[in-house]
Amino acid sequence: MSCLSIAPGRVNLLGEHVDYNEGAVLPVAIDRAVRLTAEPLLHHQVIVEAPAFNQEVVFDLCQLQEKRDAAGNPLPPWALYPAGVAWALQEHGLTVRGIRAKILSDIPIGAGLSSSAALEVSFAVLWQMLGGWSVDRMTLARICQEAESQYVGMKCGLMDQFVCLHGVQGCALYFDTRSLEWKAVALPADIAIVVADSGVRHELVGSAYNERRAVCEQAVRLLQQEMPEIHALRDVSPADLSKHRHLLTESIYRRARHVVEECVRVQQALECLIKGDAVAFGQLMFEGHASQRDFYEVSCRESDILVEIGASLPGCLGMRQTGGGFGGCSVALVREEHVYQFTSQLRDKYFQATGIHSEVYLCRASEGARVLADDQLSGQIS
Ligand code: GLA
Repeated sequence: MSCLSIAPGRVNLLGEHVDYNEGAVLPVAIDRAVRLTAEPLLHHQVIVEAPAFNQEVVFDLCQLQEKRDAAGNPLPPWALYPAGVAWALQEHGLTVRGIRAKILSDIPIGAGLSSSAALEVSFAVLWQMLGGWSVDRMTLARICQEAESQYVGMKCGLMDQFVCLHGVQGCALYFDTRSLEWKAVALPADIAIVVADSGVRHELVGSAYNERRAVCEQAVRLLQQEMPEIHALRDVSPADLSKHRHLLTESIYRRARHVVEECVRVQQALECLIKGDAVAFGQLMFEGHASQRDFYEVSCRESDILVEIGASLPGCLGMRQTGGGFGGCSVALVREEHVYQFTSQLRDKYFQATGIHSEVYLCRASEGARVLADDQLSGQIS
């Protein structure tokens, strides 16, 4: 039997660095995905080929704790994701079978489009099908998050794994990361999603990310001196934050301010989507970018230039850096009739300003992860 699992990447339109503060987010699954082809094996090994890294790794399902391959060498960073998912599934008592697999992907790696969550989810849904067990998609998302947070070491929130598993064509997902309630909200039909890659990758994203998360937790502890009822920054309003500002250092205040105001922007953005007010929605995206640049300080010069250029072009309703930050991709909402002019001018002007060639992708809001087996597969594997 052979199978193909397809797990999409995502952009986040609003609600950045909010998911680990228990707020609501507004991501979109996109039509760029990890495609994992696989066949089950009779032994306990996982053999994975990753053409993007020109590597093949073999690891043993009985020895995942060591994070080593079958020859005893440390797993390369990309292989920690499938090994982590296998580990987390086993921790939940779910059967994980040996497989031979090959990873193909058109999601740029480490560029803020959630290539990691897509990789995790592609293995999780595959192992679910081969293992003959079934858990609901939210549980599967949480297991993948545990893999990333506890095995790989990036203390991420639940947004990326959630949207990868729940994506709905043509829609953004409003997801409350505390109650886990969510709904699909239609995106305006005549607006295109354009993703532009700054070309910048920062090695330290993981540690800077974990540090931001720790600061948010510290802010909560400090605010609890006068607001004992709060559990997360999600519970703090902008008015509360100004009132209790004296409890925080300037730097902690700025981080908290981003989160608290971003939570409000998500609510406003949801209303804009429901009313069909794409202009006001776009304005909130620009504000979100400025806030992650000035208060949360997770942007970089190149992303700022990209967003500034985008904002100056006709038809651009809103634009912001998307995902964990420190470079990677920015997402723009652009009126359809301006899309081709927008993408070519953005590329040209960004190159003039930075000397970097930006990859620009036109994306569609897509469905979540799925697995096809044998008879459904003809024509799908190349
Ligand atoms: C990464 C994490 C998410 C989220 C974003 C920032 O993509 O995996 O959980 O925190 O950064 O919004």
